[in-house]
Amino acid sequence: MELCVALDLPSAKENLALAESLKPYNIWLKVGFRSYIRDGKEFIEKIKEINPKFKIFLDLKLYDIPNTMADASEEIAKLGVDMFNIHASAGKVAMKTVMQRLSKYENRPLVLAVTALTSFDEENFSLIYEKSIDEKAKQFAKLSYENGLDGVVCSAFESKSIKEATSLEFLTLCPAIRPFGEDAGDQQRVATLEVAKEELVDFPVIGRPIYRDENPRQKVEKILKNL
Ligand code: C5P
Repeated sequence: MELCVALDLPSAKENLALAESLKPYNIWLKVGFRSYIRDGKEFIEKIKEINPKFKIFLDLKLYDIPNTMADASEEIAKLGVDMFNIHASAGKVAMKTVMQRLSKYENRPLVLAVTALTSFDEENFSLIYEKSIDEKAKQFAKLSYENGLDGVVCSAFESKSIKEATSLEFLTLCPAIRPFGEDAGDQQRVATLEVAKEELVDFPVIGRPIYRDENPRQKVEKILKNL
């Protein structure tokens, strides 16, 4: 398991201070909508300046027509990030086009597909997708696997069954992790680190339980010891 810390603080200054405090650790940092829209490419460069070994996951969840997604994916590859994601519901052609377009990059970033957002409960999910979360997440995962993606974003509770339906090597990145049972906030399907381990999660993504802790560095150390 490789820890991915969400840089979701309100300003670039605070996020960079958090990254600075986590400098000694070889971890992944997740840059989301908020930071990227506000702070852009420069923010990514600044993170790499703090520690070039930090791996960056750009969480922009692309969803558009295939050509637009592939164009955006190429721009993301040029940023030098290590992983990004698209929505699985963008479909097979979008997946194929993105992967085909990235194939010319020697060190292309890993590409994951979002299956079901972890903030969905069953009722609200089925209003859109007309299936249970479990069933649809597995279907999205198979589609992503068959079309050459590296893995999926899913809830920790679906990780193992997704690997069984695809391959053990097919990566699972799981938000809504509350390492030691912390407050769930707006997340619906939260899992502890213990569950994440049992479910063979590759990347637990953790935001608030780290950056809202009195001592984020100590918290990260405790998490790393428990991976
Ligand atoms: O603070 P918390 O640990 O809940 O943060 C989870 C992070 O993962 C947030 O940045 C959120 O946007 C992101 N995320 C998510 N569910 C997904 C994909 C990403 O919660 N399906």
